[in-house]
Amino acid sequence: MSIDLALIGGTGLYRFPGLKDVERYATDTPYGHPSDAIVLGRVGGRRIAFLARHGEGHTIPPHRVNYRANLWALHDLGVRRVVGVNAVGGIRDDMGPRVLAVPDQIIDYTHDRLTSFSDVAGAQVKHIDFSEPYSATLRRDLLAAAARAGVAVVDGGCYGATQGPRLETRAEIARLRRDGCDLVGMTGMPEAALARELELEYACIALVANWAAGCGDEAEISLPEIYANLEAATKQVPVLVGALLGG
Ligand code: HPA
Repeated sequence: MSIDLALIGGTGLYRFPGLKDVERYATDTPYGHPSDAIVLGRVGGRRIAFLARHGEGHTIPPHRVNYRANLWALHDLGVRRVVGVNAVGGIRDDMGPRVLAVPDQIIDYTHDRLTSFSDVAGAQVKHIDFSEPYSATLRRDLLAAAARAGVAVVDGGCYGATQGPRLETRAEIARLRRDGCDLVGMTGMPEAALARELELEYACIALVANWAAGCGDEAEISLPEIYANLEAATKQVPVLVGALLGG
């Protein structure tokens, strides 16, 4: 039975609740080890693959995630559609804590990550069109699923991908805002670009964990609040994915 969808879970989403007929598939790739075993299972009549981006015990920081191995392993399983779930900080006024968004643009501020499958000696260089970094079809399907399921989701927004694992300074966020970023996270890139290199349909569900530095009223960002907000926002993910698979 083919796999209808893969989910890459970020901070706060280490397993997919309610998955039936679960099998764990530990694999290796020419690019190294994926973050963890891929969990295969059923949601209703549909088969999904789930991978915890930071490992199920959250031991891999954003700049050390083997994004290439993760995408390659999913592609190798025959996956065509991938939804990345990413914790983010909110910059734009309507992107406050616990909001879900399906961004439509990216600015990449990360560095020293392996950003291409071409980044191997002797590999044929592959240039990709990345004008629209996310799959228009999968974004549309996600937004329609959210509407059917009654899950409030902000349509669009620019995801600023930072290096982490530290959070940003106020000055860095002020710069991101001037650049046009609406959200900030540490794992959106190079995942989206690698997915495009493999011609996967890829979209992002961004879960707002906190106001980005200097965007809320607080002088500092509280880590316990981040986790509480993420826990609340993450509850909507299976609802949204269930509707996506059902529709
Ligand atoms: N910045 C970057 N990544 C994040 C944040 C943030 O404020 N919150 C959750 N992930």
